[in-house]
Amino acid sequence: MKTITVFKGDGIGPEITDAVIAILQQAHADLDYEFFNVGAAEYERNGALIPDAAFASFEKTRLLLKSPITTPIGKGFRSLNVTLRNKYDLYANIRPAKANAAVKTPFPNVDIVTFRENTEDLYVGVEQAIDADTIHATKIITRKASERIIRDAFAYAVKNGRKKVTCVHKANILKMSDGLFLSVFHDIAKEFPAVESDDKIVDNVCMQLVMRPETFDIIVTPNLYGDIISDLTSGLIGGLGLLPSMNLGKDYAMFEAVHGSAPDIAGKHIANPTALLWSACMLLDHIGDTETAARIRRAVDTVLSAGMTLTPDLGGKATTEEYCRSIIDVLQ
Ligand code: NAI
Repeated sequence: MKTITVFKGDGIGPEITDAVIAILQQAHADLDYEFFNVGAAEYERNGALIPDAAFASFEKTRLLLKSPITTPIGKGFRSLNVTLRNKYDLYANIRPAKANAAVKTPFPNVDIVTFRENTEDLYVGVEQAIDADTIHATKIITRKASERIIRDAFAYAVKNGRKKVTCVHKANILKMSDGLFLSVFHDIAKEFPAVESDDKIVDNVCMQLVMRPETFDIIVTPNLYGDIISDLTSGLIGGLGLLPSMNLGKDYAMFEAVHGSAPDIAGKHIANPTALLWSACMLLDHIGDTETAARIRRAVDTVLSAGMTLTPDLGGKATTEEYCRSIIDVLQ
């Protein structure tokens, strides 16, 4: 049995966590859980965003299933996601957007995996006030971080029989920083001659993703573009409720939905737990329990195809709990 750490998070976090754990238990996933409340609400209660015991648990289990955390806009504490990704060097953020036959979208053939560099770029939030009216933000791109995410993207392509890796950048303007990322990409592409490679500028990619998403296979990109593009890919497959992710480093792995804490629907019992559930399936795959992961995915497909108990984001009227109950019924 593997022990995993679970962070319940803010907003819809606790609701979707409860749903996912109930499904994992019904599927008899061979897991033991250490639960922690973390985030803005926990800070209000106990004065710590992430309690020491929660850090200690992750450092022991090295596997974290994490719900979204609210980050104040334009003020307040630094994003806990950025903190976790940097503290544990979770450098590869892998976000698979695959259309599901049961979810109607104009793009039935989308199957795009975004490899987002997770530890540098503008996203780490290094900012400096030059004077009262001037702020500088630092964009950090290093050869080391670029090499490892790009190599991982190509290695994934080989391992999973994927055809093409596309580097997404803005090296026409950011000639030095994105220029370095792009030149590392072209160097590493030579190590993987069996995989097609190309590069595209990020603004063009946004248009092409909406017009011709089926022409993309694997995308590798610096942190900020990866953040934005992967939300776009979630829109192609039916919304944020359906996009899982994993954050991998050498020693630690963290699994989370791509979406945030959705304060607009928190407490209304209408959040879609699928993105977190599929993230949990990625965790099961990661620890070698592919059979349980496949069984859960099949149960989700059955419920999505039946269409009777969908949450409102997918056009239904069911509550989170009713949707979860349907998956549990299929598993039974
Ligand atoms: P969001 O992803 O929370 O919500 C965007 C829209 O998608 C909202 O209309 C929301 O209701 C909907 N949505 C998201 N997840 C859903 C689900 N599972 N089921 C149904 N509908 C869903 O983005 P927003 O509103 O920009 O951010 C809210 C907070 O979350 C902010 O504090 C932000 O910093 C934080 N955030 C945290 C993340 C994390 O912890 N990994 C990731 C993204 C944002």
